[in-house]
Amino acid sequence: MADNIHTQFHRFVSPEEKAKLLGQSGTVLWMYGLSGSGKSTIAAALERQLHEEGRFAVILDGDNFRHGLNSDLGFSDDDRRENVRRVSEVAKMFAGQGVITIVSVITPKRDLREQARQIIGDPFREIFIKASYETCAARDPKGLYAKVAAGEIKQFTGKDSGFEEPEAPDLVLETETHPAEDLASQLKAAYFSPKQ
Ligand code: ADX
Repeated sequence: MADNIHTQFHRFVSPEEKAKLLGQSGTVLWMYGLSGSGKSTIAAALERQLHEEGRFAVILDGDNFRHGLNSDLGFSDDDRRENVRRVSEVAKMFAGQGVITIVSVITPKRDLREQARQIIGDPFREIFIKASYETCAARDPKGLYAKVAAGEIKQFTGKDSGFEEPEAPDLVLETETHPAEDLASQLKAAYFSPKQ
């Protein structure tokens, strides 16, 4: 019957079918920490390692969001909350399609991490990228810490805008003592079983 053909034609592809096609299930690895702590570097190393194993991952990076979708937001507490909310919603959509979603956003406060966990639900993993303010300032990959010291940037995370260390993160990666490549391997070992 025409009705039935119509229904068949519009049959949705289920999350299980997508997981089978991709050979993986969607997850969100939410990496947070100070600017310059190593989030983006570890994200890139992890994406590469996963790719080489035949796993499909995407990186959602705070800086990229702030150039596009979140270009209307600044660094007040309210704007950071909205920033994290939008990134969480996007991450949830990706994970819902079976994609390994690597998030790299400062997410400075515990309640923001909690908000992300609430929005994303089950696939959410909280990974603290740990490095002291002094270490990040010495690395200063974007020259921001020098500008902060010169008084040119306000509301800077760890300076005049707070960063709360986590109480119970799912994982802590110590970037002062370990290279990014090793930490990406550690992350992969923690969440992905070896591919057959
Ligand atoms: S968050 O606090 O809202 O989670 P997000 O990760 O999106 O931050 O953006 C942080 C990036 O914005 C930093 O990596 C840095 O390049 C840039 N940035 C510009 N101004 C600030 C500021 N005042 N505090 C922190 N990061 C800033």
